[in-house]
Amino acid sequence: MTILVTGGAGFIGSNFVLDWLAQSDEPVVNLDKLTYAGNRENLADLEGDPRHRFVQGDIGDTALVQRLLAQHRPRAVLNFAAESHVDRSIHGPEDFIQTNVVGTFRLLQAVRAYWSELPDSDKTAFRFLHVSTDEVYGSLGPTDPAFTEAHRYEPNSPYSASKAASDHLVRAWHHTYGLPTLTTNCSNNYGPYHFPEKLIPLTIVNALAGQPLPVYGDGQQVRDWLYVRDHCAAIRRVLQAGQPGHTYNIGGLSERTNLDVVRQICALLDELAPAPQRRVAHARTGQSITNYAELITFVADRPGHDRRYAMDIRKIQRELGWQPAETFDSGLRKTVQWYLDHPQWVQRVQSGAYREWIARHYG
Ligand code: NAD
Ligand code: TYD
Repeated sequence: MTILVTGGAGFIGSNFVLDWLAQSDEPVVNLDKLTYAGNRENLADLEGDPRHRFVQGDIGDTALVQRLLAQHRPRAVLNFAAESHVDRSIHGPEDFIQTNVVGTFRLLQAVRAYWSELPDSDKTAFRFLHVSTDEVYGSLGPTDPAFTEAHRYEPNSPYSASKAASDHLVRAWHHTYGLPTLTTNCSNNYGPYHFPEKLIPLTIVNALAGQPLPVYGDGQQVRDWLYVRDHCAAIRRVLQAGQPGHTYNIGGLSERTNLDVVRQICALLDELAPAPQRRVAHARTGQSITNYAELITFVADRPGHDRRYAMDIRKIQRELGWQPAETFDSGLRKTVQWYLDHPQWVQRVQSGAYREWIARHYG
């Protein structure tokens, strides 16, 4: 038995592969294009492990995917591969359409061809699990009930529109061709190996460097945060017991405004890595700081910024018995500590391409 994971060198994918192999001996074939967001260093602990086979390549490369399927005969394909950053999708949507829409389409076609030739019992047991987002549902008002699986798709950004399109393709491949698909729609993740272009890791690494902590608009936008390893556990559970053709919402029951998140990170850093002891100075003014919150800087809002996301997770709780193990407080503390313990990882991902993005986006 083997599983094929795509995008397994990214943030969630690498956490998933590490967790999977910590809990099972079932081998993983890991297909990842290694875009700016993919990082083999995330998988360094698996170096030389015969259960992990890494292949650099594109989910849209049909010949490669066909070859991997024929060679490894996986019992499941888990699709994490995507362009995932909303701000980048606003600057340049093309890659999002290419990977998230065309790539998912080609992957589905290759998997369908492989699956349709399997013996009956393997065919029934096979699963295509598609990892998606809460952002496909659009934006909630302050008192609206959380998104259920039955909520209308109302994507607002090029990123969420491309993920919505991929979800629709997955749905259609189940209804039309009978491919045993599962779709998970998850809220914002955070945790180890999170690329520091996203809010939580960006805030941590900027604070430690005395850089401004950019808060878009009024900072009152709300996200529902989930510790990444809880997401990985949910995906394992859906793979094991989810019903083909179904979608499952996954969330952390931890709604926070962005400003509260940034303030909480600052407070954790004040406790775990006090600025005066580290002699942190404001990179723009050269003045020493005493508290990291002094670095909070309100900047222009994101165009089309979704105001609030919140997930109703009663279906996965009721049907599959999953729920988050971490609270936001415990997960955030672990995350901040992980970044403090891995300065070299941070330094290496802040490559020329990273610095170019920060300069372009934040000026
Ligand atoms: P990420 O950007 O950190 O990683 C994406 C990975 O996919 C990278 O390793 C990249 O190299 C790889 N990739 C990109 N294009 C590829 C292609 N064409 N072929 C093969 N590999 C390719 O993203 P992430 O945060 O780990 O997200 C993983 C999945 O989870 C995505 O589908 C995303 O939409 C979804 N998701 C993310 C979040 C979140 O908060 N990060 C929340 C819900 C759902
Ligand atoms: P992000 O981590 O990019 O995830 P998403 O857009 O998928 O929710 O952003 C989380 C929230 O934080 C979102 O409302 C945008 C906001 N944000 C900032 O205020 N400043 C920043 O520098 C970034 C990257 C995000």
